[in-house]
This record gives sequence, structure tokens and C-alpha cells, in this order.
Amino acid sequence: MPDNDSPKYPEGEAKLEIKRHSAAASIQDERIAEESGPQEPSMPEPVKEEGGGEPPFELTFRLNGEERTIGTWPARRMLTLLREDLGLTGTKRSCEIGRCGACMVLLDGEPVNSCLLSAYQCSGADLVTIEGLQGERAGRVKAAFLQEGGFQCGYCTPGMVISVSSLLEHNPCPSRLETEEALAGNICRCTGYGSIFRAVCRASEGQGEMPPAE
Ligand code: FES
Ligand code: FES
Repeated sequence: MPDNDSPKYPEGEAKLEIKRHSAAASIQDERIAEESGPQEPSMPEPVKEEGGGEPPFELTFRLNGEERTIGTWPARRMLTLLREDLGLTGTKRSCEIGRCGACMVLLDGEPVNSCLLSAYQCSGADLVTIEGLQGERAGRVKAAFLQEGGFQCGYCTPGMVISVSSLLEHNPCPSRLETEEALAGNICRCTGYGSIFRAVCRASEGQGEMPPAE
């Protein structure tokens, strides 16, 4: 499979941009929804078979700690690839336009929305889904969500756990404001966020009292 023509994996800055755009878009979407009611997602799924036949692209990457090589299409959305091709349904499908965070995964350690990722962008990358999120910190985050009741329907929870684990990796004892910023790209329709912030607080190293919102 020729690799020379494959688009290059974006640099770290580009990945952070994806998250920043997601967070900003989430806030903007919330405002639009409040002002004019629910919006219809309009981003189409990229065409899977471009003319049919065998998948033209070989994606080699590390998935949940395992080296994987799979045939696919370069523009195949990673959300679809994970859920439909690989059966990793812990990654949730919701808005599909980068505004809710339900589809969050870790790409080289950074949380990104898999609905905005194409397969070619993961070439050579290290990708972790909720199924593969392990370690002492992740265990603490999951336990804290259970202990604080940081979910109701649970649809946002995998994405939340991914984002909170990443937050605590970079900042073991975040403030309320830092937590709000880190979770700006994760939408929860059920909890009102209070129990989620308590879960973050419980899972943080300080385990102290998180300052209330302004
Ligand atoms: S499904 Fe909503 S951000 Fe990806
Ligand atoms: S618990 Fe239902 S959307 Fe968050």
C-alpha cells in the first residue's frame, strides 16, 4: 500500500486547534440553540466506497495499546470506523459536528472529537478510546463519577471521562474555572454539571473543595 501519497498526520498544534474549535463551537452552538431552538446537524458522512472495490488505504496506528493495521478509506470518519468497523461502541455518536464531545477519544494523549477525525489523520498515531482508558488516574476518575453520580443517562459519560482524565494528567488539581474550560467541549444534557464537577474534585489529587462557579 503506497504511503508516500498519504496526507501527513497533523502536528500537535493542529490537534489542539481541533479541540479549541470544538470548545468554541460548543459554546456558540449552545447560544444558537437557546436563541433559535434545536439545530439540525448537516455534516454528511464521507462516502465510504469511492467507486467501490477494496479499501484503498492502509491505516496503521496504535489502538488501545495494540498495533493495528486495517484497510479503510482515507476520509473515513474515525467515529464510524471505531463504532461500526471495530465494534468499539463506547465512543458515542451524537451531534457528529464536533460540538458535544460524546465521541471524544485521546489522540497522542490529547482529547479530540473522533467525528472530526479522518482515518488518514490517525496514521502512526496512538489512539485511546474509553474501552482502552486504563491506569490509576483513569480508575480514580471512573470511580469518582460513580461515587458522585456524575451521570444520569450516561450518554456523555465516556467523553467526559476521557476529557477529565486528560485534564488531570496535565493538571492534577484543577480549579473550578480550569475544569469548566477543560470540559467546554463536553455537553451534558442531564446532570446540570454539579455532580460532574464534584467527581472531578474527588478524582483530583488535592481532593479539596472546588471553588463554586462565579
Ligand atoms: S458526536 Fe458530537 S462532537 Fe462528535
Ligand atoms: S448524563 Fe445524560 S447527557 Fe450527560
